[in-house]
Amino acid sequence: MSENKTNIQWYPGHMTKAKRQMQEDLKLIDLIIEIVDARLPMSSRNPDIDKMGANKSRLILLNKSDLADVRANKQWIEFFKEKGYYVLEIDSKNRVGINSINNVIKDACKEKIERDRKRGILNRPVRAMVCGIPNVGKSTFINAYAKKACTKTGNKPGVTKGKQWIRMSNVLELLDTPGILWPKFEDEKIGINLALVGSINDDILDIANLSIKLIEFLKNRYSDLLEERYSISCNDENVAILEKIGRDRGCLKKGSEVDYDKAAALIIDDFRSGKIGKITLELPSEY
Ligand code: G4P
Repeated sequence: MSENKTNIQWYPGHMTKAKRQMQEDLKLIDLIIEIVDARLPMSSRNPDIDKMGANKSRLILLNKSDLADVRANKQWIEFFKEKGYYVLEIDSKNRVGINSINNVIKDACKEKIERDRKRGILNRPVRAMVCGIPNVGKSTFINAYAKKACTKTGNKPGVTKGKQWIRMSNVLELLDTPGILWPKFEDEKIGINLALVGSINDDILDIANLSIKLIEFLKNRYSDLLEERYSISCNDENVAILEKIGRDRGCLKKGSEVDYDKAAALIIDDFRSGKIGKITLELPSEY
């Protein structure tokens, strides 16, 4: 799935198809596990899932929490909890936080488990679907959670043909195809945030412009990290900062002119891989 990540273009036809597929799949499950990127928890979700998933138990996983601001992660957890979701921060790449999930799932689905119990059904796993916009880490999460222990359970009678369930543990059965939601570009800022983390094509802005937006943001919120990483002063103009970074890091054209695109790509790559520090692009107070 990663190969699609920066290339998916969302056309109305795609969205309608994805939505229809998801509505079908939602009929089969008890719990929606929605994955968002902890660096931009709102920009990386599609609020339509709230309508589509009404009456389902909900768990939001703040994935890539290793790249996000530790304090902001806590704020986002509170924010979503207040709205009635179960929430966990995880780092699927390094399997951090994964072990807590089963207990949270049991809690999120306690009513269903109790209903089952009253009918004499014990230990029937919760059925869940993982969903999220491209690149938030759906596949990485499924692999991290499944480890090697999971078994495919095959098609069940009465269930749409072709649906494959993965028995992840005695607590959870997962639909093996994640639900792909589409990003919601309500304003330019969401587009910029998604481009900064690499979830949509960079060409919504040219890369130099995107890096200027990043420098501007970092100057306001994480000036110490920016100054420390690149030995620059946040009192300088954004373009002067980009130029200095380019010169210092050897991003030069012939005639030793700074190659702004190369410098921009470098700084954006540093941000995406966490080299500048743990950074969150949006806070609950903005919503
Ligand atoms: P998707 O199914 O939702 O489209 O996302 P996918 O799992 O393909 O993950 C997208 C990228 O995000 C991958 O990086 C993956 O390694 C990375 N990733 C997923 N979860 C985490 C996490 O919790 N922390 C960090 N730091 N990264 C995470 P990639 O560059 O495409 O691949 P690779 O370089 O890691 O091989």
